[in-house]
Amino acid sequence: MDALASPIETVMDGRDRKTVVTLRPVPQAADIARTFIEHRMLVMKRPDLVDDATLIASEFITNAYVHVPTAEFFKLMLCWNGGSPLIEVWDPSWTLPKPRTLAEGDEFLLSTSGKGLFIVSRLAQSWGSRRIPKMNGGGKIIWARLPRNKE
Ligand SMILES: Nc1ncnc2c1ncn2[C@@H]1O[C@H](COP(=O)(O)OP(=O)(O)OP(=O)(O)O)[C@@H](O)[C@H]1O
Ligand SMILES: [Mg+2]
Repeated sequence: MDALASPIETVMDGRDRKTVVTLRPVPQAADIARTFIEHRMLVMKRPDLVDDATLIASEFITNAYVHVPTAEFFKLMLCWNGGSPLIEVWDPSWTLPKPRTLAEGDEFLLSTSGKGLFIVSRLAQSWGSRRIPKMNGGGKIIWARLPRNKE
């Protein structure tokens, strides 16, 4: 694969609970994100989440690529808090996403775009976004939490 398309940093904490991948804004970024998330879901023995988690990561990274064209890089983070996977994507823009809803009616249903975050909202247990203070690097994080293992 083209070196430009490779993740440029992967950091795992001591207990392997948080993984951070720094991605360059290249068209292959969403594909790299999908491959990484699939691998981590299998390593963490959550094959049931591969489809939803890869789609969510892909939507977030594609959004960062499309809607923040000035970004030099993005960060894809995966945390496991008490068995509940949390997917986060950081980008350097302070603009928060504007999800569309079914309440917008026919115009939304017939539209070929504006569906990504709606799909995320249906797949994730919860999701959201928050700005990061300038002193901590600025930008924002968009996140989605997936269900913990059924006991
Ligand atoms: N990372 C982001 N930074 C800034 N704005 C964003 C970001 N992600 C999403 N948005 C805004 O939120 C809107 C809704 O995002 P969503 O992913 O649902 O739709 P879309 O990207 O426009 O289309 P689709 O995902 O269906 O191809 C976008 O049109 C954009 O205005
Ligand atoms: Mg989108």
